[in-house]
Amino acid sequence: MILLTGATGYIGSHTWVKLLETGYEVIGLDNFSNSSQHVIDRIEKITNKKALFIEADVQDKFSLSDLFKKNQIEGVIHFAALKAVGESVQRPLDYYSNNLNGLLNLLGVLARFDCHNFVLSSSATVYHPENPIPYVEGMPLGSTSPYGWTKYMSEQILRDLEASNPEWRIAYLRYFNPVGAHPSGLIGEDPRGIPNNLMPFVTQVAVGKRKELSIFGGDWPTHDGTGVRDYIHVQDLARGHVRAIDYLLNQKKSLTVNLGAGKGYSVLDLVKSFEKASGQKIPYQIVDRRSGDIAAFYADASLADELLDWRIEFDLDAMCHDSWRWQSNNPNGFED
Ligand code: NAD
Ligand code: UD1
Repeated sequence: MILLTGATGYIGSHTWVKLLETGYEVIGLDNFSNSSQHVIDRIEKITNKKALFIEADVQDKFSLSDLFKKNQIEGVIHFAALKAVGESVQRPLDYYSNNLNGLLNLLGVLARFDCHNFVLSSSATVYHPENPIPYVEGMPLGSTSPYGWTKYMSEQILRDLEASNPEWRIAYLRYFNPVGAHPSGLIGEDPRGIPNNLMPFVTQVAVGKRKELSIFGGDWPTHDGTGVRDYIHVQDLARGHVRAIDYLLNQKKSLTVNLGAGKGYSVLDLVKSFEKASGQKIPYQIVDRRSGDIAAFYADASLADELLDWRIEFDLDAMCHDSWRWQSNNPNGFED
């Protein structure tokens, strides 16, 4: 059985569905600090399977130990973390505390129950921002926000653990910019408050919840002056997790890979593609650059292809179509 922490979140829920469809037994865990209980019914509806779930905090050793006592857990995919970059600058202690204490507590329980297969949700944000693009796994690391440092430190903690005991097998998955939703339109990204990230902001403009998109900078050194990122469909990302768990269980080795499309699109490329996919006009205004942003980054995605036989299946149009289906079917997210 595979344990997913942060299972009812955006990426966790899509991965849960993929694992069940692949035939894995899964138990989900979440404290609902950034997700909804309705996700569980939706997962059952999509998969037609029972979704085993426990409401708990990864910082709660007692609940985790109880879970490991009652279930034969052979691997863990650890999504549970706080993830808003701007908020992490305002509330660094909450971020270091939740993301690092949660990880340390979970690893302590895993060690006690001899479960050594672990997948970490890492991020492109662990690459030093001055690296040339595309980002390759061996490049220097560093970060620019407390959130980013929690991912950097999480990787370091796990590398030290591996060095201490060769039984640990860790997949360090560095995600680029996940967007899109399950094609059923039943699960998708449901940010609380004003979205920080581009795609949820665009979908909320399209559905009439926000007046217009502010584009952060029109004078970046890119093909049209707007920021360039590597958008990856959450369905492709979810499939990457299934491949990573297969790899840990079968190859019995650790790995560090980028999960990205391997190409960059600008903000205006995304807006154009979204308008085509949705038939909705996205009014926008170019405003000042957002502090901490960089012009462009995207992944070199060849190592994931080589080691996991994984490559993307969905292009930007599919990402926009699926994001729009989710948002238009659920204008208020899971709270409808
Ligand atoms: P999300 O907020 O939708 O999901 C995270 C889930 O973890 C939420 O359901 C939240 O309630 C839960 N959680 C948080 N702290 C918890 C705790 N202490 N105990 C139990 N549950 C807890 O975020 P997501 O986009 O699905 O991201 C999943 C992981 O991927 C995170 O670790 C995030 O840092 C990482 N990541 C996300 C992105 C992205 O752009 N979405 C990019 C790179 C990395
Ligand atoms: C953000 C995080 C990063 C995280 C990544 C993936 C910041 C500073 N960085 O990066 O750590 O790994 O998400 O989750 O938050 N944009 C607009 N208007 C908007 C929103 C965004 O123009 O309202 C632009 C941005 O300037 C950027 C692009 O759209 O050029 C993508 O932004 P966003 O979705 O926030 O992702 P990242 O900046 O890559």
